[in-house]
Amino acid sequence: MIGGDLTVNRLGFGAMRLTGPPAWLDRYTARGIARRALALGVTFIDTADSYDFGENEELLADALHPYPESLVIATKGGQVNLGADWIPLGRPEYLRQQAELSLRRLRLNQVDLYQLHRIDPAVPLAEQIGALRLLQEQGKIRHIGLSEVTLEQLRQAEKIAPIASVQNRYNLADRSAEDVLHYCGQHGIAFIPWFPVAPITQGQSTDPTDAIATRRGVTPAQIALAWLLHHSLAILPIPGTSQLAHLEENLAAASLPLTTDDLTTLDQVGSGQTEPRYQTPSSALSR
Ligand SMILES: NC(=O)c1ccc[n+]([C@@H]2O[C@H](COP(=O)([O-])OP(=O)(O)OC[C@H]3O[C@@H](n4cnc5c(N)ncnc54)[C@H](OP(=O)(O)O)[C@@H]3O)[C@@H](O)[C@H]2O)c1
Repeated sequence: MIGGDLTVNRLGFGAMRLTGPPAWLDRYTARGIARRALALGVTFIDTADSYDFGENEELLADALHPYPESLVIATKGGQVNLGADWIPLGRPEYLRQQAELSLRRLRLNQVDLYQLHRIDPAVPLAEQIGALRLLQEQGKIRHIGLSEVTLEQLRQAEKIAPIASVQNRYNLADRSAEDVLHYCGQHGIAFIPWFPVAPITQGQSTDPTDAIATRRGVTPAQIALAWLLHHSLAILPIPGTSQLAHLEENLAAASLPLTTDDLTTLDQVGSGQTEPRYQTPSSALSR
């Protein structure tokens, strides 16, 4: 449940990789993946104004509009895409313009969930959240979400407007946002972990993860996603992919049960690494 009134299936889809690097899919293939995600039961899709400079939002509209009633589209604003560098830009007038442009590209009158992509340290938080609150009062966005925030920033933001979701980097190997996740679970805030499978598929899988995957006849990526779903009811993972086969594999993880023994073993993976990570990574992967 997002914001107390939007019900979504627990495994969402991150659309970022449908446009842009590294795959640079042709539009026909990308639209097909977006449609297949819905056919397989996805009801929550994450995008951003800065993903391929708006192309990502346009692609989703081309593929999926008119949207089914059940679909929740979340977008983000407040981060400028300069290629290798992604720079927070939270001036209120910019946020309001970007929300208007997202509405136009997505062909919506209201965005269900509008997330502040990054808090801009150069702009008072009250002005950034205040801009989103104004958009909410105008009916242009339904719920406000945050991305890459500390627990302290989340608490500060909540004093200004109700916060429906937090999107932080979090996965089996990176638990640095555990404190934020815990708070979200206790306060009815959806926690949307980005980068939910990539570390596992890109060399950071561990012997225990691989062993459980082998024993269950599934992949380490599926174990990573199933662990997220079991770890907290607040978690709404948004795995992204440019490949149909990976999409199908990832979504199958939604119905993968884990035993208590599996969970105990997996809970140990990365559990020593719980220091809050407050720095915004500057690599392209930090999108
Ligand atoms: N809030 C933020 O700051 C932020 C930052 C980054 C991303 N995001 C959002 O989070 C979503 C997910 O993040 P992400 O795409 O960076 O990371 P991810 O979903 O963890 O991983 C995607 C990567 O893993 C590969 N992959 C996916 N499923 C796989 C599988 N079953 N087997 C093997 N490889 C697999 C993909 O390659 P293939 O394409 O080859 O499958 C791709 O390289 C994005 O789409 C975006 O919406 C938000």
